[in-house]
Amino acid sequence: MEKYLIELGNELAAAFKEAGYDENLGKVTVSNRPDLCEYQCNGAMAGAKLYKKAPIMIANDVAARLADSKAFSKVEVVPPGFINLNVSDTFLAGYVQRMSKSEKYGLTLPEVKKSYIIDYGGPNVAKPLHVGHLRSAVIGESVKRIIKYMGHDVIGDIHLGDWGLQMGLVIAELKVRQPELIYFDDSYEGEYPSEAPFTVADLEEIYPFASAKSKQDPEFKDEAMAATFKLQSGVRGYRALWQQICNVSVSDLKKNYDNLNVNFELWNGESTVHDVIPGMVEYMKEGGYAYISDGALVVDVKEETDVKEVPPCMILKSDGASLYNTTDLATIQERMKEYNPDMIVYLTDKRQELYFEQVFRCARKTKLVNDNTKLVHIGFGTVNGKDGKPFKTRDGGVMRLEYLIRDINDQMYEKISTGRDMSEEEAKEVSKKVALAAIKYGDLSNQAAKDYIFDVDRFTSFEGDTGPYILYTVVRIKSILNKFIENGGKLEDCIITDAIANSYHKNLLMNLISYNVTMENAFEELAPHKICAFLYDLANAFNSFYHETKILAEEDEEMKKNYIAVLKLTLGIAEDCMECLGFDAPDKM
Ligand code: ARG
Repeated sequence: MEKYLIELGNELAAAFKEAGYDENLGKVTVSNRPDLCEYQCNGAMAGAKLYKKAPIMIANDVAARLADSKAFSKVEVVPPGFINLNVSDTFLAGYVQRMSKSEKYGLTLPEVKKSYIIDYGGPNVAKPLHVGHLRSAVIGESVKRIIKYMGHDVIGDIHLGDWGLQMGLVIAELKVRQPELIYFDDSYEGEYPSEAPFTVADLEEIYPFASAKSKQDPEFKDEAMAATFKLQSGVRGYRALWQQICNVSVSDLKKNYDNLNVNFELWNGESTVHDVIPGMVEYMKEGGYAYISDGALVVDVKEETDVKEVPPCMILKSDGASLYNTTDLATIQERMKEYNPDMIVYLTDKRQELYFEQVFRCARKTKLVNDNTKLVHIGFGTVNGKDGKPFKTRDGGVMRLEYLIRDINDQMYEKISTGRDMSEEEAKEVSKKVALAAIKYGDLSNQAAKDYIFDVDRFTSFEGDTGPYILYTVVRIKSILNKFIENGGKLEDCIITDAIANSYHKNLLMNLISYNVTMENAFEELAPHKICAFLYDLANAFNSFYHETKILAEEDEEMKKNYIAVLKLTLGIAEDCMECLGFDAPDKM
């Protein structure tokens, strides 16, 4: 389906052509004087030079051809040569009707599917998720869903931080606390126990403890480095213990991400590429890309046009150890080999911007990726508290994601369970959905790069630009449709007609028509906040319509069915938007 403005433009183009002018002059834009008209065409102004004619004459010629146009209810020429336009109800409603019958409501779906990998989540094994992990998970999941909705192939990879010193620290501390563990007995050749000798709570206490200790105690730091080395060189007991750490941690992570309705196709990590690093390093050396500088192996990535200093990309440290970016580069190599993606998108805090710039340049220079594979980093801003500083618990600690979600669930349960006729179980179910929408919408409605204030009171409000407000609106539509059916109505009998009852009805249709442009835009820019903004406007337009119009009580049967068809379309579009954002609405609330 053509976009609305393009279709209007086609009407103008035909008129320009009929009047003997270049049809390319017939572009239509949204009016910048909404008090005067809805749309405008300034082609006559541009045509004046071309045809050495007063623009008003051209505009008049064109307007004359549009006199009988079914698309416009008003065509007005204003000096010095603007064409002001209002669209006819028939055209507007007709477009919406065609949308309602089109696949995905008139989106342009790709002729050739592309393939994408979204690298998001990025938690570290043995460390609890905190509020900082929210954005990567929530934005990444949405970006992934948008791409899929647009008809492409997409894989989400969590890219666990499961390798390197962070693991050595945990192992070294376990060795201090439980030296008798069989994993530390180098002479042991039997099978290792299937049960882990620690819980996730233990790990969460051990990691920060060990990390702090290594900063004060150089001997312990050496132990941790030695443990890291043993792990990476494949010592059996160390590998087995590491596997236990990963298992315990990953099953906890899965639970947490499930609660956020975030699902990864791949649970790969930094460790996944450990064995391919030596080959990649060799390749970089042989290709003449990597050289030794101060003992370390590096690849230069600066470019002439740089305005800021872009340091070389370090591939191996002077002791031969690999780094965070070594695993990222090797991961790129593996992803190319296995999936040959057209684009890899990374979601991290924007403080990693320079880091990804280096990695991407290095991957390009060393030809780990094809020329046409895009590497994109979406750097997001910080989640702040109401004081404008990074979000903390009341006593100033780091806010665990689990607790944050639990608190919001509780708060929502409180709201939902009072004054409503619902079983406890149902209230729990519903409040979980609403809480999730509150959190996700609260995050996604902000442009990713910006910091935002995590304001629980605002996010959980049923009014204003919030997730609960969106859900509330959707529930309202669902309940009207249900009543219509209960009263014996059939949704299949309802079609959108040319009749527009009032300005609220018209406004709702005007909101619906921008769906395809909005969604395609959100996809092109990987920007979920555009969907949120659309959804909020749509919800407002619907609610005004609802308050000003008798829907089920409408006496004219045809008009009632027309309304119901518009509601059904509004619901369908809102549900697809929510699907792309990663939450859904309950049936009542
Ligand atoms: N684990 C990393 C961190 O905590 C984030 C991983 C992001 N993804 C990547 N491919 N580097 O900073």
